[in-house]
Amino acid sequence: MTRPVPRFPADFVWGVSTASYQIEGAIHEGGRGPTSWDAFTARPGAIVDGSSGEVACDHYHRYPEDVALMRELGVDAYRFSIAWSRIQPDGRGPANAEGLAFYDRLVDALLEAGIAPTPTLFHWDTPLALEDAGGWRERDTAERLGEYAAIVAEHLGDRVKRWITINEPVVLTMLGYGAGIQAPGLTLGLEALPVAHHLLLGHGRAVEALRAAGAVDVGIACNHAPTWPASDAPEDLAAAGFYDILANTLFSDPLLLGEYPEPVVPMLPPGALDDLPVISAPLDFYGINYYNPTLVSAPDPDAAGLVDGHELDADLPFALQELEGYPRTDFDWPVVPEGLTELLVGFRERYGDRLPPVVITENGCAIIDGPGPDGAVHDQRRIDYTAAHLGAVADAIAAGVDVRGYFHWSLMDNFEWAVGYTQRFGLVHIDYETQKRTPKESFAWYRDVIAAQR
Ligand code: BGC
Repeated sequence: MTRPVPRFPADFVWGVSTASYQIEGAIHEGGRGPTSWDAFTARPGAIVDGSSGEVACDHYHRYPEDVALMRELGVDAYRFSIAWSRIQPDGRGPANAEGLAFYDRLVDALLEAGIAPTPTLFHWDTPLALEDAGGWRERDTAERLGEYAAIVAEHLGDRVKRWITINEPVVLTMLGYGAGIQAPGLTLGLEALPVAHHLLLGHGRAVEALRAAGAVDVGIACNHAPTWPASDAPEDLAAAGFYDILANTLFSDPLLLGEYPEPVVPMLPPGALDDLPVISAPLDFYGINYYNPTLVSAPDPDAAGLVDGHELDADLPFALQELEGYPRTDFDWPVVPEGLTELLVGFRERYGDRLPPVVITENGCAIIDGPGPDGAVHDQRRIDYTAAHLGAVADAIAAGVDVRGYFHWSLMDNFEWAVGYTQRFGLVHIDYETQKRTPKESFAWYRDVIAAQR
């Protein structure tokens, strides 16, 4: 059953999200330099369908059509990401004018359509030259992100009012450097923790650059997952407590409290604590990406540390268990809308007045859908999923959490990282053979939801 969408505050921001590598394509055009994802997708077996973002949704060429779709959808804002290597092909040095010009065109088209451009400066596509020099294991990459942020802020700051520094440092740390499931494909296990610190420092440097350019609406997009212990047994509680630190407070505590959870401090690079004032500079909003809670037990050889069906080789002090008893998306992720309310209320309780207004910067589900004989894409499950999660946000607002916006993931089907084009998260269906865009039933539903709020 579809939960009716309650009334949200009048100034609530309705949006959709995407990311550069997942939609742009045109990887050899406009002076773009190669990225960690170009290298990773070239590795045999890295991506389940052997694909890459080489063409993706061809958004680089088709952005006018995509902006027109968003205008039809009626969103207030569009969260996209800027490909660092279009701006600085090697991740350092002077700006590439052609790269800036692409984002000029996109931003101008959005403004023309009455949609607020909401760029993320970095959504995982590290310039390959930096990755080859150690990537986020190196402090230097954080400094380079600050330099790049300054270029972009200087160039687009006259038209862009809301900025997001980086996307999901937890996923890049854990899946990219810890488990090797995403670029750069390293399996450092817990030795990946310096990466988390350097990403947070990069965020802090980007905030400094944005502020210096006059930005007044700055945030980050962090993935958070309520961590549920598999049982009340002390070993499960301890394992879940540690996992919760790695997945959540390792990021939110330094950002919002200016301190690291005590157990991770020995695993951070020397001198890391001295960077906390930069990392915890006040934000105008805190972006939360929510998909599902995680069920965690003590190490368990049978669970084998499942992450989207991958086994982790690392010897970790916890195991991830299947969360039974909930409907599942086609990605096999449990659908637990109340987990979002729990997460938001928990943030409010933990951080109190240190928590700025929250924006849901991503939330959505993978349903393997496509046009039926009538040409329409009937994705009722996506409608039900989204309605239930909007309800969960409304419940958190009713409980006193200041949530200011919701960005659905995603505007359109796109390159879903390690699973390539096999999973579809879009409100708009993409036929990858023809690049035909077909708004799904969920698109019409979301359009009507937004219109009804006005
Ligand atoms: C990421 C997106 C991704 C989505 C679904 C988030 O982790 O920011 O890039 O496509 O979740 O997996």
